[in-house]
Amino acid sequence: MNYKALLFSAGAALSLIACKNNTPETAEETKTEEMKYVEDSHTFARPNEAVVTHLALDIEVDFALKKIKGAATWNIKTSSEADQVVFDVYDLDIQSVQSNGKPLAYTLGDFVEHHGKPLTIKISPETEQLTIVYETGADARALQWLDPEQTAGKQHPFLFTQSQAILARSWVPTQDSPGIRFTYEAKVKVPENMLALMSAENPQEKNETGVYTFKMEQPIPSYLLALAVGDVVFDPISERTGVYAEPGIIEKAVYEFADVEKMVVAAEDLYGPYAWERYDLIVLPPSFPFGGMENPRLTFATPTILAGDRSLVSLVAHELAHSWSGNLVTNATWDDFWLNEGFTVYFEHRIMEEVYGRDYSEMLAGLTRAELLEEAVAIQKENPNDTKLKLELDGRNPDDGVTSIPYNKGYFFLRNIEETVGREAFDAFLEGYFAVHKFQVMDTERFLDYLGDSLISPEQYVSIEVDKWIYAPGIPDNLPEVHSNRFKEVDAEVVAFDVNGHIPSEEKTKAWTTHEWLHFINSLPRQMDAEKLAALDKAYQLSNSGNSEILAAWFQPTLRSNYQPVYPKVEDFLIRVGRRKFLTPTYMAMVESDKKDMALRIYEKARPNYHAVSRETLDDKLAYSKEG
Ligand code: BES
Ligand code: ZN
Repeated sequence: MNYKALLFSAGAALSLIACKNNTPETAEETKTEEMKYVEDSHTFARPNEAVVTHLALDIEVDFALKKIKGAATWNIKTSSEADQVVFDVYDLDIQSVQSNGKPLAYTLGDFVEHHGKPLTIKISPETEQLTIVYETGADARALQWLDPEQTAGKQHPFLFTQSQAILARSWVPTQDSPGIRFTYEAKVKVPENMLALMSAENPQEKNETGVYTFKMEQPIPSYLLALAVGDVVFDPISERTGVYAEPGIIEKAVYEFADVEKMVVAAEDLYGPYAWERYDLIVLPPSFPFGGMENPRLTFATPTILAGDRSLVSLVAHELAHSWSGNLVTNATWDDFWLNEGFTVYFEHRIMEEVYGRDYSEMLAGLTRAELLEEAVAIQKENPNDTKLKLELDGRNPDDGVTSIPYNKGYFFLRNIEETVGREAFDAFLEGYFAVHKFQVMDTERFLDYLGDSLISPEQYVSIEVDKWIYAPGIPDNLPEVHSNRFKEVDAEVVAFDVNGHIPSEEKTKAWTTHEWLHFINSLPRQMDAEKLAALDKAYQLSNSGNSEILAAWFQPTLRSNYQPVYPKVEDFLIRVGRRKFLTPTYMAMVESDKKDMALRIYEKARPNYHAVSRETLDDKLAYSKEG
């Protein structure tokens, strides 16, 4: 059953082959090298028989039909006995497959929920390249097609992709496994007045033809394939960083991200050179379902981080950190997702510490810890196994694994190691880890071997309780403490407010950042006297906060305490914003306080604005069915 564990316990030599950079130097090597890829239950591909190495994409974006159509030409590497190559497709209309001008026979297998279908193409061991002509279908889950009203400028439509975890296959026929890397080039035709951008070398200006070409010379897995098309402009931040956004918000975006270059410098100082040349961001329309997505060279970001005071830029540090943890050293399967996200949260906090100081980063760590403790309880109830760092997502949607656990439990596991061995040793270890494994995959077992071999002693392995952290459900007792004096002062205010309605004084709060406010709001009892909340709201206008994190946090105690003045704000927010991290808790606060009818009424209105990944989660949580 656990083929992977077997493979890796077979010894370091074998696992090195398995995880080696899979781009061969010569054709000769192609045929002779014994190929070994890690088993990934979320792909139909059989990379040990035939695996992709390079993609040339030639597509047209048709906004009228809401379709992408074109051709994907793949270079492949075959084993000596190969007679087929298998791709993943999800609701793609395959029109033809050919190689060297000759048609190739192919079949589409049965549909499997979340996975889509295998596209099996007949080849010989000599086949080096093939072209798949296709169109996307109505259920292309990676794509969100926005009408002009859903953009800042309201004049032009917008398209963006979200390929992680296994949605790339809904817009490109691909071998959609994080362990399979390829380089790519692309030619993309879009309507006039629109700019196309990818996770690649990008244009900085629109051109009249509407045809844009792209190149990504570092090999990436397909969950990092990305495309955005819209009326966007570019503004530089530094020599190697900059931001794309709609004209109406570009200035705000440039202001917000002014520290990006400092973050790149800090990250490089910590863990080695940035491997992707440029680091740019694009600010997407508010229906983007995530805070950020680490598409190489071009982070996709929600506009909800444009707070006007740079207070939410830890998200940029996070996506930037993925340029090492995730994009350079990549989780072998979605069961090892904590290797992407836990490392990235750790790295994010370290970048924030470098740029803004320990006081500041300890507040972020404090919020992380509280979120983990709260969410772990809920996950524990629903599916205790999902509180393990090593996930078991076989037969499930990998999206089920996207919880606080890989992120925040992963962070505290690494912090535990740091505190055990000391920062200097841990930093040297991490720098080496990225240098040694760059452009390779990593799985949990191999990481633990590496950790034991090059950093911690067998005694430390036991004292940290490594196996418990990784393989047991729940939060271990040796969860590291966070030390924040700034939060201690907030704690005193929480008590005074909760016990006798004492509103924190202007004197006290004038030095508060967004993070103190978040800590204050998150520390309130989930249900309290609505009059107390009203007094607080009167003093600090929290229901009108322009800071999306503060507003979403404020919705929790207020909705749960039936504080009615907040209801119209909730509705506006849910209709405008599609970021899942805000949606789920807000709808659940209504459901859990006997307002399911209100939740459903708003959802009905807001749903058309949401991306498929947000819709899928909320349909499920709200037991919503389109048919009614
Ligand atoms: N890679 C993730 C987003 C993701 C994960 C998309 C899994 C699809 C499947 C991204 O780096 C991320 O973690 N985003 C967070 C940012 C936050 C932790 C700072 C988000 O969107 O909230
Ligand atoms: Zn992340």
